[in-house]
Amino acid sequence: MENSLNLCGRNILVTGATSGIGRETAILLSNLGARLVLVGRREDELVKTTKLLKKGDHIIEPFDLNDLNRIQEWVKKIANNVGSLHGIVHSAGLFLIKPVRFLSIDDIHALFSVNVYAAIALTKAFRQKGVVDLKGGNIVLLSSVAGILGDSGLSAYAATKGALIAFTKSAAIELSKDNIRINCVAPAMVKTNMTDNMASLLTPNQQDKQVNKSILGMGSPLDVANAIAFLLSNGARWITGSVLVVDGGYTAH
Ligand SMILES: NC(=O)c1ccc[n+]([C@@H]2O[C@H](COP(=O)([O-])OP(=O)(O)OC[C@H]3O[C@@H](n4cnc5c(N)ncnc54)[C@H](OP(=O)(O)O)[C@@H]3O)[C@@H](O)[C@H]2O)c1
Repeated sequence: MENSLNLCGRNILVTGATSGIGRETAILLSNLGARLVLVGRREDELVKTTKLLKKGDHIIEPFDLNDLNRIQEWVKKIANNVGSLHGIVHSAGLFLIKPVRFLSIDDIHALFSVNVYAAIALTKAFRQKGVVDLKGGNIVLLSSVAGILGDSGLSAYAATKGALIAFTKSAAIELSKDNIRINCVAPAMVKTNMTDNMASLLTPNQQDKQVNKSILGMGSPLDVANAIAFLLSNGARWITGSVLVVDGGYTAH
């Protein structure tokens, strides 16, 4: 019987591959047989990630995703080098806790640039002729439970994560014609550098309250990576335009 989670022979580009969920996803995808294109700004951390992957013909592509106008050409160049791509995981992201009254336009621009505009630019680049594999492709975007439920201090971040969900639904309808599936995963709190930085802004009591919102406690990057790998695989061939909530029960309340 065919293993529907097998990713052998797939070329998959992972953004945010220098840290947290992106790095763990890259490791898991390599173990499932994929060849990885690892993206992040910090070249030394990309090299560290390659050392954690199952041996293969993986490559690193240091890139600042704020360089939105270059994404189309850059992705095309990658496909020319490695062959057509089968998937993109957009795990690069910025987080911000700030009440509405303190938000600046620069804060909002910075969040939207990496979290949303880069996601849309990557999607546009992926569907170009000569980039996506003719048999079809897959996109997974990292949303968040913040895009589904409200929380104080998170309005700007939440707006970016909600935007990804809305984008995914409409893009799924269009991209089905190109044989591309697109989905979001929406994690609750997962232990990474992002949440370590967030924890430093909260009192121990506030931290406990946040973690306890997930019935099953805090998640690990691997919990999210497993969901991403499933969405990329043939096991999810009938899933598009969806949000896979991976939250230890956060949204069950
Ligand atoms: N951790 C959580 O609890 C949680 C919960 C829900 C959703 N999420 C979402 O999951 C995703 C991954 O989160 P994480 O916790 O793994 O975060 P993380 O450990 O802070 O990693 C963020 C990644 O984004 C990359 N990045 C940031 N700005 C970039 C830019 N301009 N160009 C290229 N890469 C950039 C960073 O790489 P460089 O610094 O090397 O560029 C890093 O690899 C994010 O979208 C986040 O919003 C996380």
